[in-house]
Amino acid sequence: MRKLILDLDTGVDDTLAISYALGSPEVELIGITGTYGNVLLEQGIRNDLAITDLLGHPEVKVYPGLSHASKADSFEVLPVSAFIHGENGIGDVAIPDSNRKAETQSAVDFIIDAVNTYGKDLVYVPTGPMTNIAAALAKEPDIAQRIGSIVLMGGALTVPGNVDAWQEANISQDPDAADVLFRSGAPVTMVGLDVTLQTLLTYKETERWRQLGTAAGNFLADMTDFYIKAYETTSPHLGGCGLHDPLAVGVAVDPTLVTTLPMNMKVETEGATRGRTIGDEQRLNDPNKTMRVAVGVDVPRFLDEFMTRITGLASQ
Ligand code: BDR
Ligand code: CA
Repeated sequence: MRKLILDLDTGVDDTLAISYALGSPEVELIGITGTYGNVLLEQGIRNDLAITDLLGHPEVKVYPGLSHASKADSFEVLPVSAFIHGENGIGDVAIPDSNRKAETQSAVDFIIDAVNTYGKDLVYVPTGPMTNIAAALAKEPDIAQRIGSIVLMGGALTVPGNVDAWQEANISQDPDAADVLFRSGAPVTMVGLDVTLQTLLTYKETERWRQLGTAAGNFLADMTDFYIKAYETTSPHLGGCGLHDPLAVGVAVDPTLVTTLPMNMKVETEGATRGRTIGDEQRLNDPNKTMRVAVGVDVPRFLDEFMTRITGLASQ
């Protein structure tokens, strides 16, 4: 069975990504690596431990990652993140803290060890800033050639950003790290706003989780309703909330959910367009395309998979 690592800044859609992964028998979630973004690193790890307990998977280990961008000294949560994901990242819903603690091994070393152990059977899915994987690549560059695949949530090729006209949130937190990953030669699929803003969830679906009458169902419904409500303010034209991070997991489990364009990408790291994901003109004619960009998604099939897997998990 393929092994999966999720690298999360555990907000609402990251939690749905954990749920999708745990509801997918095709992959084994061998660990969560923590990052910062929607919340501080410490809060994200607290969420990861509590959520995996609540979802009935206390065997999932959580590894602490880096707490801020590669070229910054510290990190502060943006007010807009707290508005969208809640102060605690999980829609301000209170769930019991776990008795477990994060592992002492760092996220960076865990990623390198996992590549050494599982090689091409390993898929790594970062759904926050790319700081941890960039640090792992700096420490052990040849993991780029040895890892099975990386399916990241971030960036935008054909649509505007969600931070500003250029920048998507995950890439904007650490453009330098994302650029390292994009140019590393690793087999990367970029699942960006081009496709994730097509996959939307509404109160109708969350009500199905509430009707399960389980602690997990109630939690997922209440948390996601907070997120849908925030989207009603920030993006009323969409008519639902974006399933960004779960779509990346969906593609990791079943790449046929999206159509992709083979294109070697880079991230602008200087000037007014810092944080923009764009084709790398130096490698545009290189026949060796290491990256693919998702440009189309089978929305009904993904939503069906999403609901079946998560509802199944939450009904236990
Ligand atoms: C991404 O930014 C975060 O707020 C979400 O969790 C998602 O990973 C969407 O741009
Ligand atoms: Ca995220």
